[in-house]
Amino acid sequence: MPEALTESHMKYERDAGPGWNAGLPALAERFLEEWELRLDGEPSHGIVALVLPVLRADGTPAALKLQPVTSETVDEAAALRAWAGDGAVSLLDADPETGSMLLERLQPDRSLSDVPDVMESLEVLTGLLRRLSAHPAPAGLRDLGDLTRGMLARVDDAVDRVYGERDRYWLRWCAGAVSELASEPGDRLLHWDLHYDNVLAGEREPWLAIDPKPLAGDPGFELLPALWNRWEEVIASGDVPRAVLRRFDFMVDALGLDPRRAAGWTLGRVLQNFLWDVADGDRVLAEILVRVAEAVRARW
Ligand SMILES: Nc1ncnc2c1ncn2[C@@H]1O[C@H](COP(=O)(O)OP(=O)(O)O)[C@@H](O)[C@H]1O
Ligand SMILES: [Mg+2]
Repeated sequence: MPEALTESHMKYERDAGPGWNAGLPALAERFLEEWELRLDGEPSHGIVALVLPVLRADGTPAALKLQPVTSETVDEAAALRAWAGDGAVSLLDADPETGSMLLERLQPDRSLSDVPDVMESLEVLTGLLRRLSAHPAPAGLRDLGDLTRGMLARVDDAVDRVYGERDRYWLRWCAGAVSELASEPGDRLLHWDLHYDNVLAGEREPWLAIDPKPLAGDPGFELLPALWNRWEEVIASGDVPRAVLRRFDFMVDALGLDPRRAAGWTLGRVLQNFLWDVADGDRVLAEILVRVAEAVRARW
């Protein structure tokens, strides 16, 4: 168990984390045996999951992904099954009870974050988003309508908690925009966490998405990670609003989205992040997200 993963579990998975950590060696052993796998290299991890490179009985490389079952991870296998490898890593096996999955092996250390030209990365990411969101969401997923109503119900409380007038203004403003869209939340299968680190190099295809936190909804809700990740490059451009809109317009165009709706859902996604931060005790909204909201408002 990598120490950094134990630490991030204590931070982000306060409920599921500690018990899960203790049971991890037994869990890994159980699935190595049940799925007839042999270890084939060093483990990788993100914030939540431990991923072991393995060989299957027939010698094909695969990856064993172990993670606690939470509201965010519970539908991961269902989404990967629905995509059936179309733009995403293929699912080879899954155990719904423990959330363990056997995945097609990709390159653990080569992601879209390593492609030097950010617009080239964005083009790949957008191409994947287009394919992923062409699929309708399977029945029973979390849905953007419910999620939006839940967010809107927490806005007044967040407004009371933040210190500054500017932050109260942005909370209300984002809430106002997304409330206009709440009655038409969409029905696509969304990945919901498609940032540059969650696209890995593969063999079947040059790049494939991993690690969905699936949600049924409007693809406009998918754009934020690509807007605010690799922020150094936005700053380096010397014109933040212009650089954000360049990314936004590129994606909206390539995905064939309505710019106003996409802007509204992006503001909703910004709101979601604001609310998480406030729930975690922040009293000042994250500057990068405020800058994104300012830029995207031009399309609302
Ligand atoms: N199919 C795969 N093949 C090879 N490595 C993988 C695969 N899936 C994930 N990884 C490695 O494990 C890391 C964490 O996996 P990820 O699914 O992103 O979990 P988390 O939810 O913790 O971010 C990735 O950044 C990557 O290095
Ligand atoms: Mg990840």
